[in-house]
Amino acid sequence: MTPPPPFPPAGRLDAARPRGLRTAYCGELRAEDAGREVSVCGWVARRREHGEHLAFVDLRDHTGVVQCVVDGAHDLRSEYVLRITGTVRTRPADKTNEGIATGEVEIGAEAVEVLSTAEPPPFGVDGRVEAEESVRLRYRYVDLRRDRMQANLRIRSRVNAAIRRSMDRQGFAEIETPLLWTPTPEGAREFAIPSRLQPGSFYVLPQSPQIAKQLLMVSGFDRYYQIARCMRDEDLRADRQFEFTQLDLEASFVTQEDVWEMVADSVLEATREVTGEEPPPVVQMTWNEALERYGTDKPDLRFGMEIVSLDEAVRGSEFKAFAAPAVRAIRVPGQGSLGRGRLDALTDRARSLGAAGLVWLRVVAGEGGGLALESPVAKFLSAPEQAAILSSTGAGVGDLLLAVAGERAASCRVLGQLRLELGQPPVSERPYRFVWVTDFPLFEGLDAEGNPVAAHHPFTMPHPDDLDRLESDPLSVRSQSYDLVLNGWELGSGSIRIHRAEVQRRIFSVLGISEEEAESRFGFLLGAFRYGAPPHGGFAYGIDRFVAILAGEENIREVIAFPKTQSGADLMASSPRALPARQLAELGISIVRPPGREPGGG
Ligand code: AMO
Repeated sequence: MTPPPPFPPAGRLDAARPRGLRTAYCGELRAEDAGREVSVCGWVARRREHGEHLAFVDLRDHTGVVQCVVDGAHDLRSEYVLRITGTVRTRPADKTNEGIATGEVEIGAEAVEVLSTAEPPPFGVDGRVEAEESVRLRYRYVDLRRDRMQANLRIRSRVNAAIRRSMDRQGFAEIETPLLWTPTPEGAREFAIPSRLQPGSFYVLPQSPQIAKQLLMVSGFDRYYQIARCMRDEDLRADRQFEFTQLDLEASFVTQEDVWEMVADSVLEATREVTGEEPPPVVQMTWNEALERYGTDKPDLRFGMEIVSLDEAVRGSEFKAFAAPAVRAIRVPGQGSLGRGRLDALTDRARSLGAAGLVWLRVVAGEGGGLALESPVAKFLSAPEQAAILSSTGAGVGDLLLAVAGERAASCRVLGQLRLELGQPPVSERPYRFVWVTDFPLFEGLDAEGNPVAAHHPFTMPHPDDLDRLESDPLSVRSQSYDLVLNGWELGSGSIRIHRAEVQRRIFSVLGISEEEAESRFGFLLGAFRYGAPPHGGFAYGIDRFVAILAGEENIREVIAFPKTQSGADLMASSPRALPARQLAELGISIVRPPGREPGGG
């Protein structure tokens, strides 16, 4: 994708004009500036000798690079910080460089000041050679000078600005909530902070401002939002960090449709801001439909290959595997030529995902111009069954059909995963297809003690039509909760909350949370609800994930200034680390080290 201009667009420029030591930015000089006397400041991107007495120095700032012609006697090395004063002139026609925006001009330097010298950087800032990530993270301040990281963090800043604009326009108040907080029910492991004044007691870093924002609804703020830092001690992955940022919002007296509109306004505003294009509108799909058509609650709508039912097509088939409760298939366009080795590997993959097996069928030209199926199982399928399979999948010559027979949900999940592995475009590929996934089940299976597990969190309002089955058939109860999905990534979740004590009591009881436990864990929220709670609902989406997608990055580390590694370390600041004994004593903490673990280490 084309990165947005690093420079703020015209109209917002006044406050951003160069001041102080400089009168121009490196990247903005053009042929029309020829003759201007300017001072520019920046880092030496490159130096080349130019004859005996002169040198070319490419000077880089946050807007780009400009070539300066300087006296060759100056000792100017990579990443030195300079102020160069001189006259802008056009380059001879055969010396222009179309590769950079300032390629038609150069600055004839009259004065060169070295503002800072620099050791040779640990890797090239020009990004031509990709350095190892551990080195990039150790020297993150150098890494962040690279165009890619400058662009990513500027995209992030513009996303935040667009979000604030949207929230402000919709009457949301931005309210900060505590970081030194108390356990909340998101379900992840929490980071604990020892209290010095009350040794043996701990604060907990918020997994999200969930309870705080619900309290703000009880307080009558009506519409709250926050670009909130959240902390969860969970296994790190490409889309997960310990510390991440959410757009967190909550509103009173609203329906779920209202929340969807409010959130959509902000994500579309941010997408427009970054791409300059109108994104497709946000669509909606129930959880059940997402599972049925895409085999996942995070459907990527950028490509087809939807799951289709072959139940009708193969009903009564003599092929035994198809006697399962459900038979589902995907059509992989143009992959009918995959060799046996690949097909066997796909079968193994399907098995590893839990399928009993995988049926593959190549679509080939049949006699008389029709279509035929080529597969070891084709002989077990009658002509009408084959015709029905072809028509239900909409297959054409050269396609590959993959079918899984088994339980409905499990078969869909396997095919959904194969669909992604065979067809998912890279993150950087547009368009941005936002989808609301709605009507999630209230509970996701049972825990070890046989109690239902809340799919979202225990304050989520059940679907009103299903409330009478809460105790008798809890797993069939839908909730008023919803996810926002973008190109196969879960961007965020939210729900309409329970605001009435009797419904909350029933939920706790189904979850196996006793009244005493509820009182001790969430007592302050339940207490607040006794003082007049408005019906309310809200949402939170991950800004790191959103920005990663907009920046075309596979890993959210690339859009976070100072992220942690996979193993939770900050290689630059050397955290986590051991603390001096004096500090531990003050906190009333003594360390019991598991055998084999060294101090300060992992
Ligand atoms: P949830 O727990 O689903 O909902 O989180 C919402 C979104 O936050 C992002 N996210 C993360 N991003 C990076 N690293 C992580 N470790 C991480 N964990 C979560 C995801 C996710 O979709 N309080 C509720 C929201 C609500 O009901 O209003 C909540 O936090 O993009």
